[in-house]
Amino acid sequence: MNHPAAVYPIDPDFAANARVTREDYERQYAESVNDPAGFWGKVADRLDWFTKPTKIKDVSYDLADFRIHWYEDGELNASVNCLDRHLDERGDKTALIFEHDDPSQPAERITYRELHARVCKLANALRSLGVRKGDRVTIYLPMIPEAVVAMLACARVGAIHSVVFGGFAPQSIADRVADCQSKLIITADEGLRGGKKVPLKANVDAALKLGGTNTVETVLVVRHTGSAVDMQMPRDRWYDAVVDEQPTQCAPERMNAEDPLFILYTSGSTGKPKGVLHTTGGYLVYASYTHEVVFDLREDDVYWCTADVGWVTGHSYIVYGPLANGATALVFEGVPNYPTVSRFWEVIDKHQVTLFYTAPTAIRALMRDGDEPVKKTSRASLRLLGTVGEPINPEAWRWYYEVVGDSRSPIVDTWWQTETGGILITPLAGAIDLKPGSATKPFFGIQPALVDANGGRLEGEAEGNLVLLDSWPGQMRTVYGDHARFIDTYFRTYPGTYFTGDGCRRDADGYYWITGRVDDVINVSGHRIGTAEVESALVSHPKVAEAAVVGFPHDIKGQGIYAYVTLIAGEAPTDELHKELVAHVRKEIGPIATPDHLQWAPGLPKTRSGKIMRRILRKIAENAPDQLGDTSTLADPAVVESLVRERRVP
Ligand code: WTA
Repeated sequence: MNHPAAVYPIDPDFAANARVTREDYERQYAESVNDPAGFWGKVADRLDWFTKPTKIKDVSYDLADFRIHWYEDGELNASVNCLDRHLDERGDKTALIFEHDDPSQPAERITYRELHARVCKLANALRSLGVRKGDRVTIYLPMIPEAVVAMLACARVGAIHSVVFGGFAPQSIADRVADCQSKLIITADEGLRGGKKVPLKANVDAALKLGGTNTVETVLVVRHTGSAVDMQMPRDRWYDAVVDEQPTQCAPERMNAEDPLFILYTSGSTGKPKGVLHTTGGYLVYASYTHEVVFDLREDDVYWCTADVGWVTGHSYIVYGPLANGATALVFEGVPNYPTVSRFWEVIDKHQVTLFYTAPTAIRALMRDGDEPVKKTSRASLRLLGTVGEPINPEAWRWYYEVVGDSRSPIVDTWWQTETGGILITPLAGAIDLKPGSATKPFFGIQPALVDANGGRLEGEAEGNLVLLDSWPGQMRTVYGDHARFIDTYFRTYPGTYFTGDGCRRDADGYYWITGRVDDVINVSGHRIGTAEVESALVSHPKVAEAAVVGFPHDIKGQGIYAYVTLIAGEAPTDELHKELVAHVRKEIGPIATPDHLQWAPGLPKTRSGKIMRRILRKIAENAPDQLGDTSTLADPAVVESLVRERRVP
């Protein structure tokens, strides 16, 4: 990020009608941090509560007395807030626009009234299958309306959903099902992405043959592509057969604000992915409020977030935020480059999208194909652009701004995490001047700070580890089934603060520039992969003795996966084994964890106590052998020389 920090001042036309102006921002921000309970108490009025909360905030990051509670005496139901309360005024408004993978298929428009009926029917079906408040339901679906319906139906009956991204392999599904002991899985015969079929039901079948999954009583299967799949009765039931006969009304469960809404698994530094748990009241307040303010939402907007519901961005900014706000949200089944690299822009024109939210990796990939595929479309409907998931390099930002947005639409570069439930650092387009590559300033109530490795607070212009000094309603509450891991991961490193795992720079204007993960998480195309997960997949292969995995800079993906592999004695490295190991990782985790480079390592650089020196491996992967630093503490410094010599040049 060593680019001159150009400033793109607030667009006066945008500011004239914006929800938040510069003065509003300064005033409301001050209010939000000086009196969080007062501020968030008022914001909570945006939801419909069965019982209005009177206790707004009860938080302590002190480990001796740790607690995070928001709105703890309030009662509500998330699906009621996303559906029922809109029926009077917006019953005939389009809630979802469904755009198929195949553009020749007619798009589907689903009104709030229709969506309500579909959710109620599935909710009734879930109850008839024995699903009760607090039960866990795994959702493994493509980007089709049923994914949204399934999440809201769980919310309606108080079941905790765990959405598993459709790109994950059977072992990853099984791990997630086993961890939260799901009672029911909702899947489809197949998914469809870029014209290719994804065998979702077959993956579920394979997952359910693996250990720890025998809590699953029922698998509901949506007919999507219509291909034949194995149905194992009575476990497997066709979704339509179970749902069609159900009534279109369903009494919602009364949920306490702190009752769980969902679990979403995400990768961390160590071990298996952890089940990030979000609760009902605080999460919904935060997701809906940030969605309205950050995207400057108006009643007639057509909003499109290109994320998959398998990630938190899909949860907060396709489903819960937009629907709680009564917005029209587009659900896209496909990919940016199918059938052509103009697809995104064609969809924007076709549905007159006004607010568009995507990932830097998609922008970088499309930028490579030049301006023409963009320029041949109109995009005149757009009024705001957003990015999320990883740092955006200023070149990609400018291309997005100038070519996609015709230098008309401000860009909100939104920084947040699965753990945070919603956007924490972001421009508000009517209030904050933009700088390409910077997520700019904290949202209301968010107090970022930078600390050095010892936890010392860094003031003014500085670079360090990003922590947050106080809670916000959308904060995760625990790691499902492992509260100690929650505390250890986020609250022990820098006591009294929430540690984000990100590095960050603050410039002279107080703008925040996220520099990327400082832990052992790799951000591949905006998707988090733990190095430990890829390593454990590699060593589960019988010919692998040891593996170490690091990230390296990648032009399109942001970061790529670089694996060092030591074979067991007697095994020789071959091209075939190379392919086999890459395929093995894909099979164990899923295609998103495919190593970009795999280097044979006769040995790995270790300290004398046996700890792998990842810093050195990262430098070799980055092709910066001159920056290896001190190698004298290594048990066998010669290992490094041979790794540098044998480096696989990308
Ligand atoms: C990174 C995605 C820079 C960051 C919502 C964070 C970003 C991780 C940005 C969380 C951004 C997300 N600029 N980096 N605008 N947004 N990140 O949990 O490293 O999938 O910690 O949540 O993505 O990824 P997650």
